[in-house]
Amino acid sequence: MKIVSVVGARPNFMKIAPFVKAIAAHNATGPAMPIEHILVHTGQHYDVRMSEGFFLSLGIPDPDINLEIGSGSHAEQVGQTMIAFEKVLLQEKPDWVVVVGDVNATLACSVAAKKLCVKVCHIEAGLRSGDMTMPEEVNRLVTDRLSDLLLTPDRLSGENLRREGVPEERIGFVGNIMIDTLEANRDKAASLDPAAVLADNLLSPGAACPSLSGGYALLTMHRPSNVDRPEVLGPILDFLTDEVAARMPVIWPIHPRARKMLENFGLWPKAFACPNLVLLHPIGYHEMLRLNMQATIMLTDSGGLQEECCVLGTPCLTLRWNTERPVTLKEHGGASVLVGNNVECIRAEFLAALESGRVPQRPELWDGKTAGRCVEWLVKG
Ligand code: UD1
Repeated sequence: MKIVSVVGARPNFMKIAPFVKAIAAHNATGPAMPIEHILVHTGQHYDVRMSEGFFLSLGIPDPDINLEIGSGSHAEQVGQTMIAFEKVLLQEKPDWVVVVGDVNATLACSVAAKKLCVKVCHIEAGLRSGDMTMPEEVNRLVTDRLSDLLLTPDRLSGENLRREGVPEERIGFVGNIMIDTLEANRDKAASLDPAAVLADNLLSPGAACPSLSGGYALLTMHRPSNVDRPEVLGPILDFLTDEVAARMPVIWPIHPRARKMLENFGLWPKAFACPNLVLLHPIGYHEMLRLNMQATIMLTDSGGLQEECCVLGTPCLTLRWNTERPVTLKEHGGASVLVGNNVECIRAEFLAALESGRVPQRPELWDGKTAGRCVEWLVKG
């Protein structure tokens, strides 16, 4: 059986790493049906710190093919990826295309595959925010509508798919593949020194770092809804510098998109001048996991970090009004609270979250063995 799997952007890499290993484990058993695997990188993310660094640190083999699509508008990224990926499909003639997550590569490659009648398997199927202004929601809906095999991370996602009329035999509840990566890398992350992580990744090398011994907040922000408008980003930055950083260090590994917007809106000098706001380059997987393990609080608009906070128990303020990952919310036993991007809401929940301790939770089948179940489904399929 021949499988082409696809990655494009940073959150895909921690999802594909365990899948690649599970294929190798399957082949090592001398199976009746060995898997020939080809890994395609669309090149949506290309900086070393956004891409290659993750391949090296997570032991992902170099991609067999890199489409080198790079940055652009949504239509440019999706269109160019489809054109380039169609050529790969015509040459490789796979039995399955496996896509993960909800980035533009996920959408583009599932559409290109389906148009050539190649079967598509979506890992992390069924997540729904209900928010059609999110590019990822469009990507999820189209990908799931086209997929032949929909492998879900939790039971709520399966219910979403059934409500949309997906036949039962196409749905496989496998658990959360990103947690495979978390469990496989916990010990290595724990061995890192948080102060060294800061020192090694400072945007201004050699700048003084505040002590982390009294606790710290960890921040990530990159969603267009938070960073693309000055009237939203400005007040959030004021809150971070004037209120959060006044209480504890705030560590901010800064996404290229957020940095570009801070610069465009003239907000960069304010961020840079705040002594307790520690601005880092985008950091590696183990470095982020290490900082998350010990953070007093997480503020983020990332879906993946919401999930990692759930398993690690880090109180998490999710800077969004909705989430496609409700299983990570407090009402479902998780560590995350939706606070949107209004400073009043963020402040109220920030103060409440400081009172709550770490409460690790493990949703069903977030057991570190999801990738093996994905391969089993494909072999059956
Ligand atoms: C993409 C995904 C988003 C995911 C995020 C994680 C889509 C629609 N969005 O958003 O779901 O949460 O990745 O990071 O697929 N840039 C660089 N270097 C890079 C990559 C990007 O500098 O290696 C800059 C460019 O200026 C680019 C901007 O970041 O225009 C945005 O990158 P893009 O890939 O379009 O979207 P993300 O915001 O990263």
